[in-house]
Amino acid sequence: MLVLGVETSCDETAAGVVRNGREILSNIILSQEIHARYGGVVPEIASRIHITELVGIIEKALSQAGVALDDLDGMAVTSGPGLVGCLLVGLSFVKSVHLAMGIPYYGVNHLEGHLFAGRLEHAPLQVPHVALVASGGHSNLYLVEDWGKYRLLGSTRDDAPGEAFDKVAKLLGLGYPGGPAIEKAAEVGDRKFIKFPRAQMGKDSYEFSFSGLKTAVSVYLQDKSPDFIADQRGDLAASFQEAIADVLVRKTLAAAENFGMVQVSITGGVARNRRLRELFDERKPIGARVFFPSPALCTDNGAMIAACGDFHLARGERSGLELNAVPYLEL
Ligand code: KG4
Ligand code: ZN
Repeated sequence: MLVLGVETSCDETAAGVVRNGREILSNIILSQEIHARYGGVVPEIASRIHITELVGIIEKALSQAGVALDDLDGMAVTSGPGLVGCLLVGLSFVKSVHLAMGIPYYGVNHLEGHLFAGRLEHAPLQVPHVALVASGGHSNLYLVEDWGKYRLLGSTRDDAPGEAFDKVAKLLGLGYPGGPAIEKAAEVGDRKFIKFPRAQMGKDSYEFSFSGLKTAVSVYLQDKSPDFIADQRGDLAASFQEAIADVLVRKTLAAAENFGMVQVSITGGVARNRRLRELFDERKPIGARVFFPSPALCTDNGAMIAACGDFHLARGERSGLELNAVPYLEL
């Protein structure tokens, strides 16, 4: 089955073509850089860019895959969660093609899309397993009992890890998005420079909280001179990154152990982080496997949406013209 996946839930205008849920024929991603100027995503600007760019991105995805709309067996589009004005652009486009050409489509939950990024490249990733979606909007730990059957074990009470990266990068005078900027600054830093707090949220809890960590960085910086911050930027970035990675790794591996899972899948934008990957490798128990998608599949992309749509379409599931965008859609 040949499926086009369309993703416009936030600031990536993206489309990809996937064959039989596993083979990526194209994965075109336009990361809207204009938001760096504002230090965060401006929803109105993001939706307007989706409107002007989406058709071109889809044409590119189709031509790189060497297929035409006519060849598609189905389409998949993120219908939530995300910024409603952004979601509506992708959804309306796909619905229009569905109406005009009769190609079946399925509205994908963005979080399930991230989970399928783990499956796309890694045939050995089996169900059940424990999965973490760590992104700019989410920090969700799941027991993937089967594909299509997820048990949410815990999520963040406040900020998502990517959001914390973005906010702390701002405090440190680094660029946006904060994740890559902090990771780069941390390369020359000492991760033991200062021990920032790690919220436990109670014994055996799979809940996360990152706003206290962000506040701790902010309080620490309050009485520091600009020169000190400039000199110590790498150390502060490394210490902050260590605190986030420590919590994500600890809780995810604890969940795997408690549920008797030997496979773990880490997805979402924060899964790009090399220190996070390294720490999982260092701490995973003997015999356990931790799967990370390649970097382009961690952050928002159309291929993961296509892979997820393929799964649902193959089960005969279809969305109709009445489907609406749902900003707080849960999984
Ligand atoms: O999954 P994603 O593209 O969008 C959401 O669904 O939120 O994730 C974007 C987030 C941003 O907050 C960004 O700072 C973070 O992923 N990110 C990283 C890295 N690359 C992107 N965080 C840590 N380290 C990175 N290398
Ligand atoms: Zn995402």
